[in-house]
Amino acid sequence: MSDKLFIFDTTLRDGEQVPGCQLNTVEKIQVAKQLEALGVDVIEAGFPISSPGDFNSVIEISKAVTWPTICALTRAVQKDIDVAADALREAKHKRIHTGIGTSDPHIRYKFNSNREEIIERAVAAVKYAKRYVEDVEFYAEDAGRTENEYLARVVEAVVKAGATVVNIPDTTGYCLPQEYGEKIKYLMEHVDGLSAGKAILSTHCHNDLGMATANTMAGVLNGARQAEVTINGIGERAGNTSLEEVAMILKCHKGIAIDTNINTQKIYPTSRMVSSLMNMPVQPNKAIVGRNAFAHSSGIHQDGVLKNVQTYEIMNPKDVGIDDNAIVLTARSGRAALKHRLSVLGVEMEGERLDATYQDFLKLADKKKEVNDDDILMLAGADRAAAHAVKLDYLQVTTGMGVKSVACIGLDIAGEKFEASASGNGPVDAAIKALKNIIKRQMVLKEFTIQAISKGSDDVGKVHMQVEYDGHVYYGFGANTDIVSASVEAYIDCINKFKK
Ligand code: KIV
Ligand code: ZN
Repeated sequence: MSDKLFIFDTTLRDGEQVPGCQLNTVEKIQVAKQLEALGVDVIEAGFPISSPGDFNSVIEISKAVTWPTICALTRAVQKDIDVAADALREAKHKRIHTGIGTSDPHIRYKFNSNREEIIERAVAAVKYAKRYVEDVEFYAEDAGRTENEYLARVVEAVVKAGATVVNIPDTTGYCLPQEYGEKIKYLMEHVDGLSAGKAILSTHCHNDLGMATANTMAGVLNGARQAEVTINGIGERAGNTSLEEVAMILKCHKGIAIDTNINTQKIYPTSRMVSSLMNMPVQPNKAIVGRNAFAHSSGIHQDGVLKNVQTYEIMNPKDVGIDDNAIVLTARSGRAALKHRLSVLGVEMEGERLDATYQDFLKLADKKKEVNDDDILMLAGADRAAAHAVKLDYLQVTTGMGVKSVACIGLDIAGEKFEASASGNGPVDAAIKALKNIIKRQMVLKEFTIQAISKGSDDVGKVHMQVEYDGHVYYGFGANTDIVSASVEAYIDCINKFKK
């Protein structure tokens, strides 16, 4: 009989800490429901004390989701735990995830403390969380750089205090796979409560040296029975272990008798949804979900695959939900076809919202012959702009070789109309200068990336921007078949996020 590996998804907590990837509560619920359909066991829904938005999202996700355990993060601080317990009040299955740094740099510099006091604080936090919930997970932050002997004492103490899961994070992504695997093995062999089955160990690996998945697998092969992961591997800095990689490693390697509950055919739609809602492109060569993950371009490979796919493919793209025969929508597709495709992609839409999205779809289908899944997800998110105070009314640009680019722009600011024009060294420069003639603030464009959604000169271009204003950096996104309009939309998206 095979063992079960619990999948703990932290896309909505560690993943969402990435600058520019923040979601609103409605979007978080959409992702949480998709994670439920994907089959994750635990959803880390947020860090409730960190902001009213996070607090509220944990409440709403708890209401929306039925099967997975909903988990809320805290520091080893009573107030954090009180707030997390309150946010989890509606969850059908709930877990508090509390913890403290255990490595010497954390103990000395972050807490100005000593090893014994840290154990006392860890135990006190677990006991306090146990007053509210049965299921308490403890994290030993920076366990990757914590000496094994001391770490075993911490784990022993928190398990005795009632922790049901103990998380061993490689917070800085420093460990080598062998080192991380040995750490888990050492704990399994030296902590009585683990061999007695009172608690399980969890992996939580960051990807700073590109070893997050390798470290996670080393941990699992040495006895960890929960893996903390994110969709597309998103997360702070270089990200976290990606869910799709762990799930597919266990599916492909039949010799490892460990299973997950993941419905792998939902991997690709989930990846697209997260990428689209978070405006976070997936690198083309990303394992499992990148655009090129199953694209054989060399002649030798193509020849082999045509003769027999087993020559170069270790997994079937259909197993991760990539369907070559997926229906491509065109201007002749009806509202029902759009509704169905949205539903396959995890977006349930009805009534007026569906009508509005269908109208946008028809406009796009007029400009583009085929509307693909990325386009559809982009359209599904377009209604986010409707709530903005600053909206683009129109944009007219004249440009060409050997002439100056000139732009005229019309904005609607909270119902009032404004117009301006400007010239520049190119169409985007002219359009943004015209915009700045209306919104006269000290704004500096820090980053500007343009990406075509798939291919073809009629494709939709996506623009990501970072604009610095009043000491803060704001992230914006725009998508349009006209790249100049997409750029202006992204700039306006940043402006709409200004705090004052
Ligand atoms: O990386 C880390 O150590 C964390 C903990 C808060 C679990 O994300
Ligand atoms: Zn982390």
